[in-house]
Amino acid sequence: MSRIVHVNGEFVPEAEAVVSVFDRGFLMADGVYEVTSVLGGKLIDFAGHCVRLSRSLTELGMANPHSDAEWLGLFREVVARNQVIDGMVYLQVTRGNPGDRDFAYPGPDIAPTVVMFTQNKPGLAENPATKTGWKVISVPDLRWGRRDIKTTQLLYPSMAKMAAKAAQVDDAWFVEDGAVTEGTSNNAYIVKGNRIITRHLSEDILHGITRTAVLRFAREAQMVVEERPFTIAEAKAADEAFITSASAFVMPVVEVDGTKVGKGTPGPVTARMREIYLEEMRKSAV
Ligand code: PDD
Repeated sequence: MSRIVHVNGEFVPEAEAVVSVFDRGFLMADGVYEVTSVLGGKLIDFAGHCVRLSRSLTELGMANPHSDAEWLGLFREVVARNQVIDGMVYLQVTRGNPGDRDFAYPGPDIAPTVVMFTQNKPGLAENPATKTGWKVISVPDLRWGRRDIKTTQLLYPSMAKMAAKAAQVDDAWFVEDGAVTEGTSNNAYIVKGNRIITRHLSEDILHGITRTAVLRFAREAQMVVEERPFTIAEAKAADEAFITSASAFVMPVVEVDGTKVGKGTPGPVTARMREIYLEEMRKSAV
């Protein structure tokens, strides 16, 4: 089925959707994005994604083209038009089309480009990979220094994903100054005893919306949360490891650089966090 996508206020068949070759998203990767999951036809943690979108735009000096209420209307419409029950909504906002190529930003008279599209993923929350878990390799973190802004410059994460594929594993964890920053498109965690350890928020990592919710639920469940850098050696010696993202929710990691984590099977803390996350998020979905 061909999708209906949103481009600058219009809902059109994907084959008819057009963005200029002079769009700064295309020429300069000058844009930000958000990925929001849909379960049972409803948006998961929509408010969280709105807050981060607004922050990313502000950090890049771009105006937010819509209020949160308008975004909600657009999200709901793209979900409804594509009959998404379980799946994803991708939103990209670029600095628009100034009519020519120039490193300097255009003035405020140039409107941003807004593109939204969906992916249908029936049974998204019942991903069989959660039964076996992911294997990861470590790679140097060669991304730019403002990873807290969710920009569309995703080439290095794509290169790392290809390195993972070549190594016949599921993902790569970035390492900088001896410590794990995050995964290619997710936040990284280890579990040791009753402690969940994940890197603290800074410009070094994306401030995951799933991360915020999972850490809140972990604290409510009386787990100890340590927000600090951890090493690959610590991960290899941990009881459990997992990642979080809007598309994978909470996914066990069972192997790091060829070494089994714990028993080499998904662990109980990870399973519990996934269960609590999905249960709570379904309740607050809009
Ligand atoms: N990626 N870190 C990075 C580098 C990410 O790209 C993502 C999300 C996360 C997790 O953030 P959240 O919990 O808000 O999804 C962390 C999305 C899913 C993607 O690019 O497809």
